Amino acid sequence: MNLPADHPLVDGRTAASAVIRAYRGDRPETTPVWFMRQAGRSLPEYRELRVGTAMLDACLDPELSSEITLQPWRRHGVDAAIFFSDIVVPLKLAGVDVDIVPGRGPVLGAPIRTAADVAALAPLDPASLSPVTAGVARTVEQLGSTPLIGFAGAPFTLAAYLVEGGPSKDHLRARTLMHADPGTWAALMTWAADVTGAFLRAQILAGASAAQLFDSWAGSLSLADYTAHVAPYSRRAIAHVHDLGMPIVHFGVGTGELLGAMRDIGADVVGIDDRIPLDEGIRRLGGTVPVQGNINPALLAAPWPVLEAHVLDVIERGRAAPAHVVNLGHGVPPETDPDVLTRIVQLVHSAH
Ligand code: CP3
Repeated sequence: MNLPADHPLVDGRTAASAVIRAYRGDRPETTPVWFMRQAGRSLPEYRELRVGTAMLDACLDPELSSEITLQPWRRHGVDAAIFFSDIVVPLKLAGVDVDIVPGRGPVLGAPIRTAADVAALAPLDPASLSPVTAGVARTVEQLGSTPLIGFAGAPFTLAAYLVEGGPSKDHLRARTLMHADPGTWAALMTWAADVTGAFLRAQILAGASAAQLFDSWAGSLSLADYTAHVAPYSRRAIAHVHDLGMPIVHFGVGTGELLGAMRDIGADVVGIDDRIPLDEGIRRLGGTVPVQGNINPALLAAPWPVLEAHVLDVIERGRAAPAHVVNLGHGVPPETDPDVLTRIVQLVHSAH
């Protein structure tokens, strides 16, 4: 482990936490739980804090990013916090003209599609990451023994935005480019891997105890395309942090056919979405890998007895894995009643 001696994972603060133990394959007394997108619009205190501040400005304000990260931890009693930022933050810091449009997502001033577009991309100046580093440091000071999860977007999911110029349903242009112009694709994916890898490394060195690589849109790929044109760059992204020795979670949506390949990029834990039963995902992984997931976000708005039965079923199915961290199959929908999330945390912690 090449982490500083005063890092929370090294100095005794987080190594024995339930989340880190589970990520390392152990079964703590209570099953740990946190939620993707737990920080955000489901919380009134978030909406209040964000008034008048653009999303990316909030991400780059260490006081705000830290406070927003801590809000769901204080409110729900979740077992981990995930740093409030966005997968496009390192692109912005590298000089890409990108903004996050409310209700839509990341939108670029101009898409990146040609060899010349890719050649014009600048490397990330490590100094530009200081607002991220400062936000993480502020956050872990207050989290004590609760681990902070650092995260980054995987190169394919970033490329899906870069090539399209904004959100798209099927990421068709990116999926064409990898075949139509493999040289440009390789250059773009290499750039994205290094920029996102540097963003992740900065969060870990500043105090995050685990890393999650989001390849949210990898589910649009065949296994053959994933293996040939995507996996090598995801591997390159996490090569930026592998020497640090923290656990790495890899997650995508609709990736039931890709789970083994996603583990094989060097992940310690695989996040499973809600399109397949958790025990089926575990079976596809050979029963040897800790998993995270996979409460159906649609059920957050169902009557409590329906949701309760589903959560208990997820916990039961998770017993097929060496270890299980309860999470959603994807992010918290903005209209979710936050009290429901608190109630899930209490249920998971009391279930045996
Ligand atoms: O609590 C957390 O999970 C931490 C924060 C976080 C955000 N984005 C904050 C955010 C994380 C981990 C992300 C990652 C992210 N961003 C992903 C991968 C995870 C996933 O959900 O699949 C992706 C694909 C993005 C790109 C992105 N950024 C989208 C699709 C959106 C939503 C657009 C919308 O308005 O519905 C964003 C914006 C964004 N990122 C918001 C938040 C809280 C909403 C912006 C706001 O509150 O104004």
